[in-house]
Amino acid sequence: MDIFETIRIRRSVRDYKSDPIPEEKLRKVLDVMRQAPSAGNRQPWKFIIVKDAKIRQEMVVTCGAQPFLSQAPLVVVACGIEKVAWHGVGGNRSASAVDIDVSIALTYLTLAAAAEGLGTCWVAAFNEACFKRLLKVPEEAKIVSLTPLGYPASPDLFHPLKENARKSFDEVFCNNVYS
Ligand SMILES: Cc1cc2nc3c(=O)[nH]c(=O)nc-3n(C[C@H](O)[C@H](O)[C@H](O)COP(=O)(O)O)c2cc1C
Repeated sequence: MDIFETIRIRRSVRDYKSDPIPEEKLRKVLDVMRQAPSAGNRQPWKFIIVKDAKIRQEMVVTCGAQPFLSQAPLVVVACGIEKVAWHGVGGNRSASAVDIDVSIALTYLTLAAAAEGLGTCWVAAFNEACFKRLLKVPEEAKIVSLTPLGYPASPDLFHPLKENARKSFDEVFCNNVYS
């Protein structure tokens, strides 16, 4: 599937089969995260692959996360390390690129997964303190976002955008100056 088609059909999947992902396929889609660009090539990240069913259940029951996290065979938790990241976004030396870098890597994953018939869904609504305790994430790292990864419960969950699901071209692009 070419990249334009992948982008066209990728949707957030919130209903999964519990079928495991073959190791080779899993490694192939995860490896794109490692190849993502990052400011100054600092790669200020660590990705936790949570397959353990008990931990995924605890994400939902103890931390109150959305139930589809325990439905998929695994969850990828994308962590950022502030002190490793490049600082200087927008000329501000205290502004780190950590969220940008980790988000690019996660975006790569969502697209590679879709190209391989696997669903993802960005999850930023989570209880960070609870997740950090559960996953033993050290103080110096933050959880930027996470996604389940697995086969969609139905192939229809990949589909082109519905009418009006996005702002129009003219609304989001302007020429030369902000208008
Ligand atoms: C940064 C970010 C955070 C998101 N957090 C959640 C979330 O916590 N739970 C959820 O179900 N979807 C979440 N989403 C998915 C969006 O709702 C979804 O991308 C948007 O509605 C567009 O739909 P699509 O991904 O199917 O094209 C998030 C998406 C992004 C980019």
